[in-house]
Amino acid sequence: MHPRTCTRIHLAHLRFNFREIRKKIAPSRLIPVVKADAYGHGAIPVSRCLVDEGADLLAVAQYQEAMELRDSGIDVPILIFGRLFPDELPDAIRAGFRVTLSGVEDIRWIERVPGNQPAQVHVNVETGMGRVGVLLEREPEFFDHLARSRRCVWEGLYSHFATSDETDKTYAGEQLARFNALMKRLQAKRPLPSIVHMANSGAILDTPESYFDACRSGIMLYGHYPSAETSRSIPLKQVMTLNTVVAHLRRLPAGHNVSYGRRWKTDRETTIAVLPIGYADGVRRHLTGRLQVMVGGRRYPVVGTITMDQIMVDVGNDPVAVGDDVLIWGDAENGSIQVLDVAESMGSIPYEMTCGISRRVRRVVVEADHVPVTD
Ligand SMILES: Cc1ncc(COP(=O)(O)O)c(C=O)c1O
Repeated sequence: MHPRTCTRIHLAHLRFNFREIRKKIAPSRLIPVVKADAYGHGAIPVSRCLVDEGADLLAVAQYQEAMELRDSGIDVPILIFGRLFPDELPDAIRAGFRVTLSGVEDIRWIERVPGNQPAQVHVNVETGMGRVGVLLEREPEFFDHLARSRRCVWEGLYSHFATSDETDKTYAGEQLARFNALMKRLQAKRPLPSIVHMANSGAILDTPESYFDACRSGIMLYGHYPSAETSRSIPLKQVMTLNTVVAHLRRLPAGHNVSYGRRWKTDRETTIAVLPIGYADGVRRHLTGRLQVMVGGRRYPVVGTITMDQIMVDVGNDPVAVGDDVLIWGDAENGSIQVLDVAESMGSIPYEMTCGISRRVRRVVVEADHVPVTD
């Protein structure tokens, strides 16, 4: 049965974005960020596709995410950004995951793992993100500990930008300067590891001085600019379309209330199309009064409060029929709604939109020239 409300994941668009980003950053390598189920696109089909395109190092946030990819047969190295706890480390090391170090305690935990298998590590240093990087002012001896470690094999050094998607690059420049200064200090004592990386999507677009050996990109792989403030120096295609269908058509008189709270009423006789999608699927209630959808290539406003399972659309007197396809967002054959625009309309970011699609929404993976498969 054809799923009524679904996301379609266009792998041809994913391949396009991957190639365009690689072209821009070459000879730097691209580390695809596939955490949070590939930002809601499906980590397994997305990772398989990217490995097929040549990705040789993936990044996730958590141990469980890395293990899921391994269990699905993806065997390239996987960098885990988040902290690995002592009970996760033995399996993580065995699986060859790249472990992020954020302080001396992480080294101690690795030293205590039974056996003598080496752990490949990437050090995340604090330069201004204020999240999880090593605080070198607090632990000035961190790199000496690392050098003495019998178990840690130092493969990577990285940091993370807090504001690379903003027009004003002052703070990003300060972070980059701190990172460069640190590298200089380290180099005076020992060789740097083989993969130095800092750029995320915003920096890939606008800060080429931060490319180093590799760049980490998430949101652009999925076809979105990280904010409206970056340049558009890489062409992108949205990978996800969110679709539903018209479930009911109701002819209402002028002055008829629609939905919870009576926030909207008809100002004339009109047809209201009811769509079987709501905030339980990921169409955020905060989009009430802000969202437009497309039916047959035309845009219509969503009216009244967005409810858990249904939203209402004013289609006027147009010849819309029950069963018609509706585009909530994405690039379709007869039109496009940018996720970035939807996000900005409610003061959010595209990341939150695609990650917010819930389990109730079927995912249909569309590989070019192939029959769509549901996973
Ligand atoms: C450490 C780290 N690197 C890279 C990224 C990818 O960022 P973006 O999706 O903006 O490219 C993220 C995502 O938030 C991250 O946490």
